[in-house]
Amino acid sequence: MLAKIQSVAVWGIEGYPVSVEIDISKGMPSVAIVGLPDQAVKESRDRIKPAIKNSGFEFPQSKITINLAPADLKKEGSCFDLPVALGILAARQMIPADVASRFHFIGELALDGSVRPVSGVLPMAMSVKQSGGKFVVPKANATEASVVGIEVYGIESLKECVEFLTGKKEILPYNVDWDEILSIQNKYDIDFKEVKGQTLARRAIEVAVAGAHNLLMIGPPGSGKSMIARRVPTIFPPLTIEEAIEITKIHSVAGILDEGIVSTRPFRQPHHTVSDIALIGGGTIPKPGEISLAHNGVLFLDELPEFHRDVLESLRQPLEDGKVSVSRARGRIEFPSRFFLIAAMNPCPCGYYGDSRRPCRCTVPQIIKYRKKISGPLLDRIDIQIEVSGLGSKQLVSDSVSEHSESIRKRITRCRKIQQERFAGTGIFCNAHMNTKQIKQFCVLDDECKKFLENALEKMNLSARGYDKVVKVARTIADLEESEKISLSHIAEALQYRSFDRELW
Ligand SMILES: Nc1ncnc2c1ncn2[C@@H]1O[C@H](COP(=O)(O)OP(=O)(O)O)[C@@H](O)[C@H]1O
Ligand SMILES: [Mg+2]
Repeated sequence: MLAKIQSVAVWGIEGYPVSVEIDISKGMPSVAIVGLPDQAVKESRDRIKPAIKNSGFEFPQSKITINLAPADLKKEGSCFDLPVALGILAARQMIPADVASRFHFIGELALDGSVRPVSGVLPMAMSVKQSGGKFVVPKANATEASVVGIEVYGIESLKECVEFLTGKKEILPYNVDWDEILSIQNKYDIDFKEVKGQTLARRAIEVAVAGAHNLLMIGPPGSGKSMIARRVPTIFPPLTIEEAIEITKIHSVAGILDEGIVSTRPFRQPHHTVSDIALIGGGTIPKPGEISLAHNGVLFLDELPEFHRDVLESLRQPLEDGKVSVSRARGRIEFPSRFFLIAAMNPCPCGYYGDSRRPCRCTVPQIIKYRKKISGPLLDRIDIQIEVSGLGSKQLVSDSVSEHSESIRKRITRCRKIQQERFAGTGIFCNAHMNTKQIKQFCVLDDECKKFLENALEKMNLSARGYDKVVKVARTIADLEESEKISLSHIAEALQYRSFDRELW
């Protein structure tokens, strides 16, 4: 007896349909799974049998052949447990095949027959939507699946699923509560108001986020670099639904989704020992890396010089393209990776170079060697570099409250809007992403400004690349003031954000 159950799988961050075919025939009792399954699918054999028995059904003492099609994709995970178990029951006519054919199924089975959540459900749901079906998922995945606007049924056990399909139990389709999702958006439990003093750093960060300029903070231990970095997502413009779905898709595939949909901008802080695969993404069954988990949010690289040089080099392309490509025999997979980069470092190996509170113990060659660890090409993609100095104890204990994230966010959102209008139809949406031609077009400097900038760059020994960066940042500063014209003061401020170039480097 043959039965067919529809399921879905994920390749990269895209879902695709999988058909689970079950044949039960006379012969020595055995279970074979074909269709290039990996270890996890083989293991599911050992889960499905007890799960079926412990749900109160009989497991057929026959020759069972299971085929997962298409066969050429390497399938992963335990998400086919439920469709396979249902297929076995369907082949024995314990559930009506015509009813089952209206749904796609996904879910891992526990030995007692309960259904466990799986990863990648959002992209799977998108694939189900394309084939116009309904989706039966583990209850814990129901919100995530229903986000794409299809009929979703959340179930807790194999038994419940069978009762649903045989009409013994009614389950209502899951309704996603958009109001609730939107209301929890942009709620962070930290705020920029907690960062005392640091007027210059706060301003630089506002400029950086407003124009999407990547940022490097240089400062001694305890100066608040980590504290500031963690608060950067709180001043970004509110997430749009499209952005939230993009993030959720990636987090879903990575298996790190705890709520139905991601409603705040991600903040990712990989340790400096991170491997290039963990940072960029990859693996036999390709998974998104930290840079993709930071998509539409912030990637914080603390202790930048401690990162492996090769690892930092691998950031170059994604920083440029906003996505990473992973090559596989079956073709290329792309993961989106448009993130805002914040890097932090001490000014020298001991950490106290230039600090008034403590003397620095490093020699100049030591300091130069330390700073050289950061690759030039990466530095080239960081428009804003600032020094953060530690606050005195008096300032730290004062109970002054700084400006709230929300009011900073308002200015940034307005500034982003100006940029969106400027770049409509060009494929970019922020000043930082302008190419040389666009810089010429959108950042016209009068003679006075040109002269001032050329002079300053010569004194600071900055390259043509440096020129472009200063002009882009000046464009953002002008936009924050809602000024069409870039003036001297905008350029002067932008020049301040080149700390790293100036000193020692
Ligand atoms: N500007 C500040 N306002 C309030 N607290 C601060 C500030 N700077 C530092 N701190 C305090 O010092 C701690 C250490 O700061 P941290 O961000 O870890 O420094 P860094 O990353 O530069 O080593 C913070 O957790 C915070 O309690
Ligand atoms: Mg720190």
